Amino acid sequence: MAIDHPIKTLALTSANVSEGKSTVTDNLAIVWAQTGQRVLLVDADLRRSTLHWTFSLDNREGLTTILTSHAHSIDLNKIIQPSGIDNLSLLPSGPTPPNPAELLSSQRMKDFLKAARERYDMVIVDVPPMLEVTDTQVISHNLDAVVLVVNQGQTQKLGAKRAVELLKMAHANLLGYVMNDVVSDGGAGYGYGYGYGYGYGYGNDGDDK
Ligand SMILES: Nc1ncnc2c1ncn2[C@@H]1O[C@H](COP(=O)(O)OP(=O)(O)O)[C@@H](O)[C@H]1O
Ligand SMILES: [Mg+2]
Repeated sequence: MAIDHPIKTLALTSANVSEGKSTVTDNLAIVWAQTGQRVLLVDADLRRSTLHWTFSLDNREGLTTILTSHAHSIDLNKIIQPSGIDNLSLLPSGPTPPNPAELLSSQRMKDFLKAARERYDMVIVDVPPMLEVTDTQVISHNLDAVVLVVNQGQTQKLGAKRAVELLKMAHANLLGYVMNDVVSDGGAGYGYGYGYGYGYGYGNDGDDK
């Protein structure tokens, strides 16, 4: 997917909240770092930030500090934090601002992404859901690619379609989808779900149903 245009900045979004964006984003960043790439994971979900909780970080300074600073230049090293995982650096959201969409569409955000892509092999951005606020539309245009997280039991088809429409309107480069929280149907004859589960005669309860 990155043959013609290298992908260095990537966001994962979803139609609605709680479909697993942050979970998939965090895990993807960790796996990427484990392959030896220098990764920066950024929390740009300024309204429901979770990165600082997940990694037990201090959130007094973060992305919003960079975006609201009036300083001519800002030392990213002072704000970006280590993760304890080799090759993975973290930028928490910082204090919640009154105007997230304006901040994310600002020139400072573009400048930040430019500086970040020069320092890291991959910049992965956690962003808000598409159908709630316009933040992701405004930022996705400035990212190399976007992936949509779809939750098997939760995302409505219409919601996913609308999210794709909005991404297209924003001229985002939508790479594809991650299906999250998939329940095995047990019919594949491989791995979990076949021969060991309830209903196949080997259940934990010993009941031969
Ligand atoms: N595949 C999964 N299996 C189990 N729990 C999950 C899975 N994906 C997400 N969750 C849980 O669902 C909740 C919402 O996920 P989160 O990643 O915070 O969603 P979002 O960022 O889209 O709002 C969290 O408590 C998370 O741990
Ligand atoms: Mg989240």
